Formats: sequence, structure tokens, C-alpha cells
Amino acid sequence: MSTAGFGPAPSLAADRQPYTSAWVYLLRCADGSLYAGWTNDLAHRLRAHRTGAGGAKYTKSHGKAAVQLAYAERCADKSAALKREAALKKLPKAEKEALAADWAARSRLTVRMATPDDAADVVTLYNWYVTHGTQTFQYELSTEEEYRQNIADVLEKAPFLVAYTADGRLAGYACAHPWHTRRAFAWDVETTVYCAPDVLGQGTGRKLYRALLELLRRQGYHNAFALVTRPNPQSDAFHKALGFTRYGVEKNSGYKFGRWLDLGYWACPLNPPADPPAPVRRQLPGGEVDAVLEQVNSV
Ligand SMILES: CC(C)(COP(=O)(O)OP(=O)(O)OC[C@H]1O[C@@H](n2cnc3c(N)ncnc32)[C@H](O)[C@@H]1OP(=O)(O)O)[C@@H](O)C(=O)NCCC(=O)NCCS
Repeated sequence: MSTAGFGPAPSLAADRQPYTSAWVYLLRCADGSLYAGWTNDLAHRLRAHRTGAGGAKYTKSHGKAAVQLAYAERCADKSAALKREAALKKLPKAEKEALAADWAARSRLTVRMATPDDAADVVTLYNWYVTHGTQTFQYELSTEEEYRQNIADVLEKAPFLVAYTADGRLAGYACAHPWHTRRAFAWDVETTVYCAPDVLGQGTGRKLYRALLELLRRQGYHNAFALVTRPNPQSDAFHKALGFTRYGVEKNSGYKFGRWLDLGYWACPLNPPADPPAPVRRQLPGGEVDAVLEQVNSV
């Protein structure tokens, strides 16, 4: 009998790619003023400002819940970020406003239906999470070719949405796959969403999921399910905010980067369970898709 192990070698903590980043940013406060800061975790810092838990005194006393990111610039390291922050703080208001206006124009998001030609960008984004995170249980990198096929396959029955910034960066994508293949499951989908690590917490995920769930609803799907690794508090909070409820947790479901991870099962009802159910519309008319995307892109 062979003594060779069954399945892949475990992914160990040492396999994880280190991730470091430093940022300077401007926040627009409720009274229109601009606050300058630096951070090595933009999404976390933004939330700290908004909740007041660890945020700056200035934003706490200037309508913390309403602060909006107005400018973000990646720096080489902490020392460069500190220097740049000091320079930003000294800028006259008009120059800060000019930076903010330029950043807003470059960062404006458009959500649209993907085409197989988006595969290179999508797979680059997804592979970042394969090598840095436990959001996906995948160990090996995906290829552009796999994603060309994946996008084409998804589009036969469900949306595959991409969100691009005005200056051409892929900020995120969201799509839906059949939950199970047997015919009785034809009204159920599994949804997926990934945003680029440098735009987390800036509303991209919400835009994508709002469009995705509305399109799935119109197609006649009954349930959207999502599998969320634990811990992933951002994704837990995100799914809850977008109408999902967690109905179960599979303990120690996967092993990646040197630890066992649980899997949370989330569900979002899309349509009431009609009896008998109408067949799902595999393709929506172009005009209906455009109306949903226009609505989401106008916000
Ligand atoms: C989870 C993810 C898709 C959310 O997208 P996002 O653009 O970062 O989130 P948004 O800015 O659109 O946030 C929408 C809502 O989600 C919740 N939320 C998002 N991030 C949160 C955080 N860090 N803490 C608490 N709540 C959070 C909030 O309710 C937020 O609404 P609010 O800003 O009005 O409070 C994104 O963080 C991501 O891609 N993460 C890494 C990959 C991943 O985990 N994908 C999901 C796999 S199941």
C-alpha cells in the first residue's frame, strides 16, 4: 500500500506573502473641512474615523459618522508617509481641494457586465487573495485562461460584474454561480465578491452587490448563498449589511497558512418561493440590465 498522502500538501504560514502598505489620505468632514492623516491600513483607519473607536480627535468632533475619503496616495513606507502627511497638512486649502477633485475624478467607479477580455485584471485581483489571504481556500494561482472560461460560463446564466475606476483600475468584481447542479436547485446561486486591497471600505463592494442582487432578483432566482471564511469580520459585516443572514458555521472546514478555518454559511432571500416557480430567465433583456447598472452607477 502506498504511504503517499492524499490531497495537496498543506499551505503553511511560511507560504503567505507579506503585505505592507503605507498611505496618506484626506477625509472630507461633515462641515466640508479636510483632515489629513497617514496609515498602514486604509480600510481599518477609515472605519476607526467613522466609528470614533481609535479615530482622530478632529474627526470625532467634526461629524465622524459622515466622514468621506477625499484623497488617498500610496507611499513607499511609513517614513515617506509621515513626511508626505506633514506636507499635506501644510498645503493651503485650495491645493488640498485640487488634489481631492483630481482624485475624485480618477476614482469614479463604473459597474458594468464583464467580458472574457477582463479576465487578466480579474485573475490578478483574485490571485492577490490566493497568496495573501484566507478569504479563498485556494492554494494555487488561477490562470487568465481559466478566468476567460469562468466569465463566459457565468454569463450564460448569471451576472459577472466588474467595477472599474475612471483611470482604468479594476476596483472589484462580483458574480454568481449555480449553488448545486441538480435541477431542484435551479433557483439558487452562490455569490462571490472581491475588491482590490487598496479600495477596501470605500463602497465598491456595496455597489457591486447591489447590482448583482437586483439582477439576480429580476432573473427570478429565489436564494443567494455565500460562503464566508471565519475569521473575516469585514465580509461578515458586509453580508449582513447587504441583507444576508448567517444560518450555520462549519467548524475547521479548511486549512490555509498554518491554521484551521471555519466556514460561515449565509443566505439572502431574493424572491418569495412561488409554487410552482417560474423558470429562471437565463438572460435579461439588455435594456433591463442597463437600467439596473445606470441606477447603481448614478449613486
Ligand atoms: C468584503 C468586501 C467585498 C466588502 O467590500 P467593501 O467595498 O470593502 O465594503 P463597502 O465599503 O462597500 O461596505 C459596505 C458595508 O459593509 C460593511 N463593512 C464593510 N467593511 C467593513 C468593516 N471593515 N467593518 C465593519 N463593517 C464593514 C458596512 O456595513 C459597510 O457599510 P457602511 O460603509 O455604510 O458602514 C471587501 O472588503 C473585500 O473584497 N474583502 C476581501 C475579499 C473578501 O473577503 N471577499 C468576500 C469573500 S466571502
